[in-house]
Amino acid sequence: MSESNDDLVTNVSPNPEMRTIIARRMVLKGSAGLAALGLFGGLTGCGESDESIIGTPVSNNPAAGAPSRATALGFNAVSKSITDAVNLPSGYYATVLLRLGDPLAAGVSPYRNDGSDAAASYAQRAGDHHDGIEYFGLGADGKYSAGSSSRALLVMNHEAITPIFLHPTGPTIVNGARTAADEVLKEFYVHGVSIVEVAKQDAGGGWLYTQGSSFNRRIHTLTEMEIAGPARGTRYMITKYSKDGTKVRGTVNNCAHGYTPWGTYLACEENWAGYFRRTTATDNAKRTAKELASLARYGVSGTGRELWATVTPDTADDLYGRWNAEVRGTSTDGSDDYRHGPNTFGWNVEIDPFSPASTPKKRTAMGRFAHEGAWPAKAEAGKPIVYYMGCDSRNEYIYKYVSNKVWDPADATRGLAAGDKYLDDGKLYVAIFNADGTGNWVELAFNTGRILPSYPGYAFADQADVLVNARHAADAVGATKMDRPEWGAVDPNTGAVYMTLTNNNSTLRTLAATDAANPRHYNDARTNGTAQRGNPNGHIIRWLESTPAALGFRWDVYLFGARAGASAANVNLSGLTADNDFSSPDGLWFARNGICWVQTDDGAYTDVTNCMLLAGIPGTVGDGGPLTITNTDASGATKNVTTFVGAQPGTAKLRRFLVGPKECEITGITESPDGRALFVNIQHPGEETPAANIGNPALFSSHWPDGGNARPRSATIVIQREDGGVIGV
Ligand code: FEO
Ligand code: CA
Ligand code: CA
Repeated sequence: MSESNDDLVTNVSPNPEMRTIIARRMVLKGSAGLAALGLFGGLTGCGESDESIIGTPVSNNPAAGAPSRATALGFNAVSKSITDAVNLPSGYYATVLLRLGDPLAAGVSPYRNDGSDAAASYAQRAGDHHDGIEYFGLGADGKYSAGSSSRALLVMNHEAITPIFLHPTGPTIVNGARTAADEVLKEFYVHGVSIVEVAKQDAGGGWLYTQGSSFNRRIHTLTEMEIAGPARGTRYMITKYSKDGTKVRGTVNNCAHGYTPWGTYLACEENWAGYFRRTTATDNAKRTAKELASLARYGVSGTGRELWATVTPDTADDLYGRWNAEVRGTSTDGSDDYRHGPNTFGWNVEIDPFSPASTPKKRTAMGRFAHEGAWPAKAEAGKPIVYYMGCDSRNEYIYKYVSNKVWDPADATRGLAAGDKYLDDGKLYVAIFNADGTGNWVELAFNTGRILPSYPGYAFADQADVLVNARHAADAVGATKMDRPEWGAVDPNTGAVYMTLTNNNSTLRTLAATDAANPRHYNDARTNGTAQRGNPNGHIIRWLESTPAALGFRWDVYLFGARAGASAANVNLSGLTADNDFSSPDGLWFARNGICWVQTDDGAYTDVTNCMLLAGIPGTVGDGGPLTITNTDASGATKNVTTFVGAQPGTAKLRRFLVGPKECEITGITESPDGRALFVNIQHPGEETPAANIGNPALFSSHWPDGGNARPRSATIVIQREDGGVIGV
């Protein structure tokens, strides 16, 4: 998505200074966890053969025909490209499976792609900006079947919209207000989640989605959801829509995702704050100091990114006004307006794709922030369910959730009831990355450490308050500010957890603020000489724990993004070449055979190449070593930082596999269990087309995928090998 919408920065905590003090305290307190770090040397051999399916739904249930562990990449690297096309290695082909507007229900007409389709029809069409995606095998009995490689439910997020292509001549805005209610209604529908049945047509054949399948479903900003977990029914959740604080309408800005060992999907709410309208000049005077601190920390202070709240007149059920977060009523508890509306977003939403009538649940025990996604450790009987999560804004944090109940494989068929058991009752932690290559998870628990009513940054009242204001709680414990956490993934071979840190700028990652885990500050000059300073190319951090519930870990950096020609000593620390150089890693995913797939959402290297997908075969934490680099800022000042760099991959272990069309982001990736079909999302091709050009198709930046004069559309593609083999090897 465009920078303007996803770079809300609200972390003004003094955490770099705090971290030194608290980390030292945690080393002492967490000595048992750290002692376990000594085991890490022996963990490199923990990839038993039966672990080749970790990281898949119902991961304890091996899929028949699952591919074996990859030891080499079997394709030639794709060149960087700025063409308006999907570029793949020879021997591979891609087909377009599901585009914005494609009809899901029977009887819905084909998409005209000129903005003229009726708004109500979008409730049964594929949404816009395809993002996180998961493959759930579908058996002949209509139930979840982990090993099905021929029929499945694809569940995917629709993060946001490219407004100019949704309406006949772009959005109608008069004096700062949306004057066409139907256009806004359409936008409500194209956000959210699609559940769509797909099937392989024959042996060696292509994949199609099944229009009219009884499983096909759209979940969007109007879908009723339950608020579940510790914040359910609390005063923080009371709105005019749900006076007892137990329900909320819809989900929005679902970026990456998660899945559970019981076959459900997690849609994660990322940059939701920007959708709310709140005029601080008038609203601030009606707010308590505590409310103001919360609203500021989450960035609820704008006009609303699509101006949804400006539609007049509103409907009786506040369809538009519910996006206005100001105090407009006279109640003391917020039951006559939407002043608490922002508290009902920023969660992980659990959805059961196999139960089309089920009500999604927002799992508040997993905390409220800008959720990129939620990535599970392997579920093991008798051990807690563990999720790793990132908060995607510059200088935000990495979190972990550990269930209080231990995994019982008998729960694998219980759907949302299993979610009630494992996701409503657990502990939330935040990460501190130490300069010596170790790290700590610190619990965010009310009345511990500085998470107290007397904390100067935010007067915590109870544990629900801690979860609703998890960013404040993480500030209080001195969490490490990261270079924008995006996707995470767990290596099925080693159990190491990987997370992309997509980039940071020179204002927020100053020379002085560089640290071991976010070590670089440099100038990535564009080919025209324009300076780009800070960490514009991003990196991928990884860590290893003795067990997923452990409180200590050891970390290093798997890959540093860079131009191949950048300084090998200080910038191109992973030794990238023309075959694998990249910038701004975002999507990250391990296939069953252990290939690590990296997707980019880049704005720094786009003078040379469109966004891309790379395949890697990583080693593990500690396969490289410490390295001291010299950072230089615009004034010429320098600072040495010692970090920990993974072994350089070379072309043998990292290769560019795909380059997408113009102005797209490559985000969202999943596979059939046999590894022979790779489903990849191409988000917002042509998104930088100026609004003024909507009447002249020749001036659209992209026409992908339909070609000709067509408006560009986000879409899911299916990549297969011409010989029908496993992808990537
Ligand atoms: Fe929606 Fe964090 O990218
Ligand atoms: Ca993302
Ligand atoms: Ca992104």
